[in-house]
Amino acid sequence: MANMKIVESMPILILCLSALSLTIQARVVPLLQNHERPSSKNVFDTSKYGILQLNNGLASTPQMGWNSWNFFACDINEAVIKETADALVTTGLADLGYVFVNIDDCWSAQKRNSKGQLVPDPKTFPSGIKALADYVHEKGLKLGIYSDAGAFTCEVRPGSIYHENDDAELFASWGVDYLKYDNCYNLGIKPKERYPPMRDALNATGRTIFYSLCEWGVDDPALWAGKIGNSWRTTEDINDSWASMTTIADLNDKWAAYAGPGGWNDPDMLEVGNGGMTYQEYQAHFSIWALMKAPLLVGCDVRNMTAETFEILSNKEVIAVNQDPLGVQGRKVYVSGTDDCLQVWAGPLTGHRLAVVLWNRCSKAATITAAWGALGLESSISVSVRDLWKHQDIVGEAVASFSARVDAHGCEMYIFTPKTVSRSDV
Ligand code: GLA
Repeated sequence: MANMKIVESMPILILCLSALSLTIQARVVPLLQNHERPSSKNVFDTSKYGILQLNNGLASTPQMGWNSWNFFACDINEAVIKETADALVTTGLADLGYVFVNIDDCWSAQKRNSKGQLVPDPKTFPSGIKALADYVHEKGLKLGIYSDAGAFTCEVRPGSIYHENDDAELFASWGVDYLKYDNCYNLGIKPKERYPPMRDALNATGRTIFYSLCEWGVDDPALWAGKIGNSWRTTEDINDSWASMTTIADLNDKWAAYAGPGGWNDPDMLEVGNGGMTYQEYQAHFSIWALMKAPLLVGCDVRNMTAETFEILSNKEVIAVNQDPLGVQGRKVYVSGTDDCLQVWAGPLTGHRLAVVLWNRCSKAATITAAWGALGLESSISVSVRDLWKHQDIVGEAVASFSARVDAHGCEMYIFTPKTVSRSDV
């Protein structure tokens, strides 16, 4: 595959291939002996997963980091980016895996230079992007940048269509590690035509650059983007509200069977910490994004996070669900209540475990039950239950179903570990 060219280091390649083979194996071996798989909403269904996806050695698990857009929009400059990199390190978020520092729209000047090259805005990025890349690399982080598969970016800076090779070369020469590629001013050309040229241009640079497609789900990218990029937006932009977050979760859920190591559905960046939702709503937002194997790209001002925001974003056990090497997107498996507002979401993890979220989208506290049938487990199977927000093992042996009281707009998140039943025990 041409994309193999950009794999620079064999150890990374071997790591990724072993993660992939683990995944493939796990997908053919039933999670538990003799369990019946429900025909719809099968938590193990990865039947639409692209064959090896884009094999550029990246995205064996969903990308983690920070992006400037949700909090700063166009109001960015090099000091903000550097201070954010500093804060990711000093808060400990970088050590938890948040390594990409992604500059979104508005970094570039209004016009290309006389050689036709993109130019960092001289007022806000006077030291240039290479200097920023050097700065974040010294901290062990990676730098992301943004462009557009059209004539202009959404904030009307120059776009990269028909400049793919020059722009990819420039990004690589600056030491960029990640490209988010947007969809504004697209000249009415189909995304399937506009996104591959940048993949090929990035590959041709010889630098390993994560390729994040952002065509807002308009042409159902899960159906085709696995061979083009490492993640693809499945929806329009998130905003910092319960209504937006829940709508987007449901839209992204539709494509669960298409995600896997190498290529992930992207329901947009996190709003945790931006002030428009309650603590419980943000906790649910983070839990569901983690379960859905969404990119975990923090969208708040990490220089000024509250303790509550930090507590949510730094939950190691929830992050571990997102980064589990099995790489199967969790999904909504059962609903009840008015407007289906009592929900069970679940997905398989390595070690024959399951991640389970009980999500109360109703306006009052309620009891939610996860029955084994909805999880693809035989009803006689016994599981131990660990609560990922309380950080406690709460039940030693649950059989047939598990119920919990869940606050309005809140969720509870667990790992179920089945007791292994060997054949001689049966
Ligand atoms: C689009 C994208 C957003 C953001 C803005 C920047 O709306 O979907 O995520 O990048 O453009 O202008």
